Amino acid sequence: MASAAHNGATAALMAAVAVLALAAVSSAQLQYGFYKGKCNGSDVEAVVRSIVRARFARENPIAAYLLRMQFHECVINGCDGGLLIDGPGTEKTAPPNLSVKGYDVVADIKAELERRCPGVVSCSDIQILATRDAVALAGGAAYSVRTGRRDRRRSLASDAKLPSPEFTAAQTVAYYGKLGLSAFDTVLLLGGHTLGATHCNMIKDSRLYKYGGRPGATDPGMDPTYAFVYKKYVCPNVPSSDNNLVFLDDPWSALKVDNHYYKNLQLHRGVLPCDQNLYKDGATRWIVDLLANNSGLFTSLFPQALIKLSEVNVLTGTQGEIRKVCNRFN
Ligand code: HEM
Repeated sequence: MASAAHNGATAALMAAVAVLALAAVSSAQLQYGFYKGKCNGSDVEAVVRSIVRARFARENPIAAYLLRMQFHECVINGCDGGLLIDGPGTEKTAPPNLSVKGYDVVADIKAELERRCPGVVSCSDIQILATRDAVALAGGAAYSVRTGRRDRRRSLASDAKLPSPEFTAAQTVAYYGKLGLSAFDTVLLLGGHTLGATHCNMIKDSRLYKYGGRPGATDPGMDPTYAFVYKKYVCPNVPSSDNNLVFLDDPWSALKVDNHYYKNLQLHRGVLPCDQNLYKDGATRWIVDLLANNSGLFTSLFPQALIKLSEVNVLTGTQGEIRKVCNRFN
């Protein structure tokens, strides 16, 4: 009898502990409108939007900068603000991150929010909100994101293992698979190359002048007219062309979030090897075809992939910190 009562009490206690533990977990999750009522009467998301909008009006490519920043941020230890830290040996100093831009708009937003409500809004949430707004301004769909991320006290260049522009489709899919993203998500995410530009040094060897390691060889998988134009006008075979810009989508479409990137892959006009490889491989080609052939599908699905990316390995609750400035730990 005594033992039955004891068992009952133990079960009740265990249930109570389980409920408390669940409450702790759920309070430490991302939420829609996490900052509502937390910033002295200011609407945090509206503040972010107005600063991004003003910047976009002056400088359209900010959308490409922020989008790329979200990618480089979230794939390395999650969306944790690690990329924003200045100093020797931080993520920012890793070679693939040297050409990431847009840090100043994140800093501007942070400064304005610190003025309104110090120590409340994380740098990692600012990155995600600002990218969301920039994508919509560039013609993408508007979407809601959950917030409540916290900033990590770690930023190491040695962590910054980004995918190679020369990855096959299988390698790219495997890379994102490790982050919990599917092949479909991966092809959607590379649609980020609907915006922005790369530099000639990224394609001179791999596609134009040393394909397959053979001096003088051009990738036969590239539309010959495009290869001709790149070689003659955009990236001539001289070292001084290394930093010339090459739009990742056709120039008229490179400031616009649309499915033209996928149409170009169908026409063998992808720029980076990893782009065109999505069409070479049957496992991803059907996804490219689907997105290329159904106008509006990419625009409506792209947010889903960005949202998944934005929730990779985030810190919440009492983990990490809310930085005072984004480029330094507190
Ligand atoms: C296998 C995956 C990826 C690889 C290897 C890759 C590689 C690159 C490279 C090499 C550049 C040009 C850098 C330069 O020359 O300065 C670039 C630019 C860019 N990437 Fe990716 N990328 C990948 C995935 C993504 C994803 C997932 C996104 C966003 C969702 C993204 C968005 C961008 C944007 C917007 C630019 C243009 C930036 C600008 O104009 O400044 N990329 N990417």
